[in-house]
Amino acid sequence: MANNEDKLKKIVAHAKEYGFVFQSSEIYDGLAAAYDYGQYGVELKNNIKNYWWRSMVQFHENIVGLDAAIFMHPTTWKASGHVDAFNDPMIDNKDSKKRYRADVLVEDYLLKVEAKIKKEVTKAAKRFGDSFDEEQFLNTNPRVLANKAKMEDIKKRLYSAMEDERLSDIKALIEDLAIVCPVSGSRNWTDVGQFNLMFSTEMGSLSESAGKIYLRPETAQGIFVNYLNVQKTGRMKIPFGIAQIGKAFRNEIVARQFIFRMREFEQMEMQFFVRPGEELKWFEYWKEQRLKWHLGMGIPESEYRFHEHDKLAHYANAAFDIEFNFPMGFKELEGIHSRTDFDLKSHMEHSGKKIMYFDPELNESYVPYVVETSIGLDRTFLAVLTYAFTEEKLEDGSERVVMKIPPFLAPVKAAVLPLVKKDGLPEKAMGIFDILKKDFMCFYEEKDSIGKRYRRQDAIGTPYCITVDHQTAEDNTVTLRERDSMKQERVDIAKLPEIIAKKLK
Ligand code: GAP
Repeated sequence: MANNEDKLKKIVAHAKEYGFVFQSSEIYDGLAAAYDYGQYGVELKNNIKNYWWRSMVQFHENIVGLDAAIFMHPTTWKASGHVDAFNDPMIDNKDSKKRYRADVLVEDYLLKVEAKIKKEVTKAAKRFGDSFDEEQFLNTNPRVLANKAKMEDIKKRLYSAMEDERLSDIKALIEDLAIVCPVSGSRNWTDVGQFNLMFSTEMGSLSESAGKIYLRPETAQGIFVNYLNVQKTGRMKIPFGIAQIGKAFRNEIVARQFIFRMREFEQMEMQFFVRPGEELKWFEYWKEQRLKWHLGMGIPESEYRFHEHDKLAHYANAAFDIEFNFPMGFKELEGIHSRTDFDLKSHMEHSGKKIMYFDPELNESYVPYVVETSIGLDRTFLAVLTYAFTEEKLEDGSERVVMKIPPFLAPVKAAVLPLVKKDGLPEKAMGIFDILKKDFMCFYEEKDSIGKRYRRQDAIGTPYCITVDHQTAEDNTVTLRERDSMKQERVDIAKLPEIIAKKLK
């Protein structure tokens, strides 16, 4: 645990030092759970967005894009259920004055019980060696069985209390489990209360009573309210999808762990409209497709896992998360939900507009069902940093930090570096920069020793460094250094675009 926390701290410090992520309004001591993306962060973020957009929109003849406004008519949020139900149960500790999500306190407790089970397994595996049968052990060991039963019981109590909004039962559970405040260590809790996560503001042009509008808590509703516009103007035939990338806002009670949980963040969502009855087939399809997308970044499959929701949202008939092995452990990165016809039907009722599809093959009209894929851009960014951050001890005893960002996502693709600041080398190097910049994000630098410049490029994940030296003037060749292997080779300037392009494929 200490090591993982350590890794997160190192990533946060590295992200700041090398211009990936800064605390928002830092000169005023920052604003909690809001972050700014710096010069390299914005490039990495744009490259992730581009990868998602290309794979979802460009690669599918039946998926189109959308960019809806953040402000939406307030009835949108009544129809979607967010006004009434987008709440988190919260509880305050009277001694530390800290506020917690009541369900998260219980879930953290469950993780501790799960850790106990894992410890038993590790101990037994050591004791029995090769003959150890984990499956059998998990199904027969009395201590494991008791802990499993305890977990089931807690989950049942928590989820049924959440479902029926029995807030006093959630408090009773916290008391029964003797959960203490991590800060004060006391059990001096307030009652559990509901806390709506939507930010609201006033829109000037509306009358006072109707003036309250919300900052969207998800981009999905912008897609639902535009379903008819896109379907009609794009002459879309079911099954088809609408994809969108954009900001979302949530007044999270527990906002922590860097860019993992923020109050302003970005989502990449796609709603896929299908025939009623075919949604579970498409759900399976998108589950598989989305995992492939993650693996397409070159991050190993062992860093991902599926997690099936224990408790389905009122609108869903199937829901899985793709979890990533963040420094804090496996946590949700993307949600794939079968949302039935809940949203479109509800918008139809609230707007009075007929939101239906006439299916020429079936010769009937229906409200389409929806399969949603919803991924956090910032969490994907953190996943890439987590995977890429590597501390290496080199053969000569020195150390380097290298960001092994998949080359096609790297903020800078090639750095052009004149060996010295004289003898016409800067001019020659600038000439190469001018050629390459047309196709690739490049970087030019002439300050400091070449070794230091290489290290700085390693730290931001640049796949190639191109060094211009005195030989370059004679034979038009340069030294090309590869980030991960640090291997250097002499190559013709004319070949550089092709070599870099190959690396990015
Ligand atoms: N439209 C469905 C929806 O919004 P969600 O599970 O609430 O579902 C989808 O959010 C994704 O958005 C999550 O898997 C996560 O990656 C990201 N996300 C949600 N809340 C976030 C937050 N406070 N900070 C950063 N990312 C967040």
